[in-house]
Amino acid sequence: MASIKAFVAPTAPSTETFRADLFKGKVLFCTGGGSGICKGMTEAIMKHGASAAIVGRKLDRLQAAAKELTAATGQKCLPCQGDVRQPKTLHDAVAATIAEFGRIDFVICGAAGNFLAPISGLSENAFRTVVEIDTLGTFNTIKATIPHVRKSKGAYLHVSATLHWRATPFQAHVSAAKAGVDALSNVLAVEEGPHGVRSNVLAPGAIAGTEGMDRLSAKGKDAEKRDMMYPLGRMGSIGDVANVGVFLFSPAASYVSGQVFAVDGAQEHIRTFQVPYPLSVLEPAKVRDMIQGKL
Ligand code: COA
Repeated sequence: MASIKAFVAPTAPSTETFRADLFKGKVLFCTGGGSGICKGMTEAIMKHGASAAIVGRKLDRLQAAAKELTAATGQKCLPCQGDVRQPKTLHDAVAATIAEFGRIDFVICGAAGNFLAPISGLSENAFRTVVEIDTLGTFNTIKATIPHVRKSKGAYLHVSATLHWRATPFQAHVSAAKAGVDALSNVLAVEEGPHGVRSNVLAPGAIAGTEGMDRLSAKGKDAEKRDMMYPLGRMGSIGDVANVGVFLFSPAASYVSGQVFAVDGAQEHIRTFQVPYPLSVLEPAKVRDMIQGKL
């Protein structure tokens, strides 16, 4: 079966595609920038000359990430402890960013929470927690940054998903939250366009090496089978997503706003339940253990 796979998509770093000083003098404000996809996007943007502030709940993780990002890019990175559910902490992070860098050009709303649970196993607080982090957190981040992004005629990038485009079992909370994020971005694009501000959504498919994927994807033998089923021969990488982030903030995307970009190598078009149905909803605990490699 492996021999019939003819092609595996390469990932060229964005530094080979865009000029090195593309974002010189620009400043990125990124929630969730301490790890995963958002850290990868921050690195790619810094590699093109921008400084960055990264916001997250865990200061030690942020400080370590900021050090790494500066070492990898030669640009300044400011770690700002904050919780997107608490507007005051975001306003403090924005004030610290302005004090350090004097401006904010680009905002990535990337802080997110996820776990696998069927609706019947979700408490009201569990549902609310994810909606508060993803949707309300995006709203709070927009509110805290918008005066500065208007001033710089900058852009927003919201990290969403593709899983809510069709029903995904165990993801009701995230689906509702991400649908809200997509809607917020579209309205932002329309309301802020006349102020010179753009807003887009980046919707990663299954991306290797992320906490989300580690929590949600098949392990072991199932993982090998799964890789062979991707249209481009592999899962996505953080670099794949970062490249699109660089494009969307670049002047090459000056007329791109109010869009949702899937970076999923066409996975969404071939997606089916990877676990038997209706077993997946009738025995959720067993199927969740199967997905997580515990059975
Ligand atoms: N199944 C069902 N409910 C769950 C759950 C699970 N696997 N994990 C958490 N919850 C519930 C909790 O029980 C609690 O509800 P309760 O008060 O009714 O018991 C509610 O969710 C809040 O959980 P808590 O751990 O107190 O919230 P938190 O704010 O500390 O963290 C998350 C919530 C979602 C952020 C946490 O799961 C997390 O840290 N995730 C890591 C980040 C992540 O998921 N990154 C990947 C993004 S794609």
